[in-house]
Amino acid sequence: IVSLPKERGWVSPYLYLFQGFWCPSTHIQGVFNFQKNFDAKDSDVIIASFPKSGTTWLKALTFAIVNHKRFPLENHPLLTSNPHQLVPFVELIFRGDIHELISHLSTMNKPRLFGTHIPFPSLPMSIKESNCKIVYIYRNPFDTFISSWSFFNNIRPKSLPTLTIEEAFEMYCKGIIGFGPSWDHMLGYWKESLATPNKILFLKYEDLREDTNFHVKRIAEFLGCPFTEEEESSGMVENIINLCSFEKMKNLEVNKFGIVGGSIEKKYLFRKAEIGDWVNYFSPSMVEKLSKIIENKLSGSGLSFKI
Ligand code: A3P
Repeated sequence: IVSLPKERGWVSPYLYLFQGFWCPSTHIQGVFNFQKNFDAKDSDVIIASFPKSGTTWLKALTFAIVNHKRFPLENHPLLTSNPHQLVPFVELIFRGDIHELISHLSTMNKPRLFGTHIPFPSLPMSIKESNCKIVYIYRNPFDTFISSWSFFNNIRPKSLPTLTIEEAFEMYCKGIIGFGPSWDHMLGYWKESLATPNKILFLKYEDLREDTNFHVKRIAEFLGCPFTEEEESSGMVENIINLCSFEKMKNLEVNKFGIVGGSIEKKYLFRKAEIGDWVNYFSPSMVEKLSKIIENKLSGSGLSFKI
C-alpha cells in the first residue's frame, strides 16, 4: 500500500495503490468487506464503470429498463430519487455495519442492482462465478479526464488549493486517479467481455449518446427483460430515454440539492454531458502525450477512440 500526499491528490483523502489500482482511502474498507462478504445472486445486475464515464446515466437507464413493468413513468422513483440512491455503489454500502447490511441485501427485490468502480480482477469471486450480469460503460479518456478534473475541484474541501489542469494531467497520465489507471480498468472489463459476452455487456458512452434507442433495447435484451412489441409501439423506450436524459435529470429538484454517497453534492454529477468538450482545455502537447499513452496502452486490444 502506497499513499499519495493529500494536498497533491485528486481528493482530500489519500489514494492507496491496492491490488494494482489506486483505491481512495474512503473506499478501501468497503472494498475489502465487499470482496470478502458479497454473495452474488444469478439475478444480480452490476453497473461497472471508471468514474466520470456516464455511470449516473447508465444507472438511471438500467433501473428504468429492468423495472419497466413495475413503475408507471408519471410516478417513477427516478423522479424523486437520485440514480445513485436507487443503484448504490457496493464499495460504499459495504463500509457500514456488515451484519445489518447482509440481512438487508438478502431481502432486496430481484433483480438487485448495484454499481461499482472496482476493476474486474478485484471483483469478489461470487460475482465472477455466478451468472449475474455486468453492464460496463467506458468513455473517451480525454473527456473522462476533463470531467474528473472539474468534478474533483468541485468536491474538494475548500481548504485545499484548486488542482491545476497541469497537475491533474500529470497524475492522470501516470494512472494515478481513483480506480485508475483508466486504461487498465477498461481493458480488464473489455477482455472479459470478449471471453464471456453473455456475462458482460461493454458499452461506450459516445455510442449510447449516438443511438440511445438501440442501446436501451440492447441492454433490455441482455438483461433478459426485452420490451414487447406493444411496449415499443406505445413509446415506452422513448419515454425511458427522456426520463433519463441529461436535461431532465439535471433539472429535477432531487438532483439539484443535497448530497449522495456520503459527501458528494448531487448537482456536481451533472455538468455538460458534451462529447469532445476536452478540446476547450487541452494544449497541443497534452493531446500528443495522452494520444501516445492511449495508443500504446490499447494497442492490439481492439479498443480505440476517435479524437
Ligand atoms: P461531463 O463532466 O463531461 O459533463 P459519472 O456519472 O460516471 O460520474 O459521469 C459523469 C459525466 O456524465 C458528466 O460528464 C455528466 O455531465 C454526464 N452525465 C450525467 N448524467 C447524464 C445523463 N443523464 N446523460 C448523459 N450524460 C450524463
